[in-house]
Amino acid sequence: MSPDQKDSLPERIPTHVGIIMDGNGRWAQARGLPRLAGHRAGTENLRRVIAACIEFGIKYLTIYAFSTENWARPTDEVQGLLKIFESVIDNELQELYDQGVQLRHLGRLDRLKPDFRAKVLKAIEFTRQNDRLVLNIAFNYGGRDEIVCAIQAMIRDGVDADAVNDELVSQYLFTAGIPDPDLIIRTSGELRASNFLIWQGAYSEWYFPATYWPDFDRQELLRALHEFSQRQRRYGLTGEQIKTQKKKKQA
Ligand code: IPE
Ligand code: IPE
Ligand code: MG
Repeated sequence: MSPDQKDSLPERIPTHVGIIMDGNGRWAQARGLPRLAGHRAGTENLRRVIAACIEFGIKYLTIYAFSTENWARPTDEVQGLLKIFESVIDNELQELYDQGVQLRHLGRLDRLKPDFRAKVLKAIEFTRQNDRLVLNIAFNYGGRDEIVCAIQAMIRDGVDADAVNDELVSQYLFTAGIPDPDLIIRTSGELRASNFLIWQGAYSEWYFPATYWPDFDRQELLRALHEFSQRQRRYGLTGEQIKTQKKKKQA
């Protein structure tokens, strides 16, 4: 990024950004701290990134907070993560509301204790009318699990096999009504999807900064947006076809 680009916003901003918030454990390890300290630092960072998304005019932010596979981590870590998630709802809800954030949950709530589940549903209801930023929290989320749920629901609804198409499947996913992510960021240098938005991310642009999630700040997000604005999304067409389309649109 050139110095004059550093603080300016690119013209083309993604509508929907997905983030795999990875590297909390390594961030903590590098400081001789327990893994949960990394998760707490990661949660703190989320507040900053939400504020930056609002500032930059991003409309949808989906964060990967806990995967269906993360249950297999040591019990202490899983319990700690559940506690952090609960404390975010207890302590941050009003501030999120005041910022105009609409909360949504992606995944299954059935493994959570009933009072915790009720708290999550209440928070979602509380922010339902907000529209500045839709914040999807993928918690106990797995892309394959989401597709399995969708197939089960379609069968239960008696959907005709011939009626199944891309659009219908999308309507049965946890993300129904939400546009597909334009940009997916995975922090910490890992280069894989780990079961995140595997259907919705079919044509997303990916960005892999080496930074651990607790250190991924406003400036890093801005860098990701600049990188995104340089990409040409072709959706199977040729570069020439895209240029022609663009010219037609401008005319
Ligand atoms: C991501 O950080 C947060 C969760 C998976 C909940 P990690 O905990 O995976 O951090 P690393 O990959 O061990 O550094
Ligand atoms: C993916 O990160 C899940 C979240 C960030 C919540 P992981 O750290 O669990 O993924 P793997 O195991 O390295 O693929
Ligand atoms: Mg990890």
